[in-house]
Amino acid sequence: MLHLAKFVHLTSVLSFVRRLDYQICVTQMGEYRLGILGSGKGSNMVAIAEACRAGRIPAQIAIVLSDVAEAGILQQAERFGVPFAHIPPGKYRTKLDEDAERSYIERLTEARVDLIVLAGFMRILKGDFLKAFANRVVNIHPSLLPAFPGLEAWKQALDHGVKVTGCTVHFVDQGVDSGPIVAQQTVSVHEADTPQTLHARIQQAERELYPKVLGALAEGRIAVKGRQTIWR
Ligand code: GRF
Repeated sequence: MLHLAKFVHLTSVLSFVRRLDYQICVTQMGEYRLGILGSGKGSNMVAIAEACRAGRIPAQIAIVLSDVAEAGILQQAERFGVPFAHIPPGKYRTKLDEDAERSYIERLTEARVDLIVLAGFMRILKGDFLKAFANRVVNIHPSLLPAFPGLEAWKQALDHGVKVTGCTVHFVDQGVDSGPIVAQQTVSVHEADTPQTLHARIQQAERELYPKVLGALAEGRIAVKGRQTIWR
């Protein structure tokens, strides 16, 4: 019965693929492997790990990597019993140097990841990394893109005076926060908001949105055609 379910799932996924440019996930259910990269405290990683445990994301976290040795995300990975490693970023401030980039690619390849999930990774990923994992890198950004790309998006939103902001899950391309948008969740801006209070509400929305999107990706329910992402 289980076999038949898998077969039916795979057949419908494959026929879906034929109608689109490419499919993000063609893998058997439950075997989808996530590689998570982060530099911060890891609240998104915790939400993802809890959703994997609860079966809301039919996937497992294969590895967690960080460029910051003392990052909370690594401690959280340890707490969840997930493999993790610190890989130093090398000589640049905002991106990985060539050796570091190679090490990240090697570790993620060894871990046989299907999807790279950026969760507060503070380095720009370019060239070889994106070639190695073409169309398989997603990110969460704390604004409704294309508004307010880059750093401290919640502060940019507040300074601009918008009434609604939110968060966006998008595929990663060569630009800054510019890849195809997969999903967005809105957050109202209150008159009394400070950057801290607004950021906290956006992060709460992130912890709801990211697991939902990763669940759909792991189930093969999202495909990309040009800039459009298609859910079914
Ligand atoms: C999130 O707010 C995300 O939008 C940004 O980095 C932050 C990471 O937070 N890209 P955490 O480490 O997941 O708590």
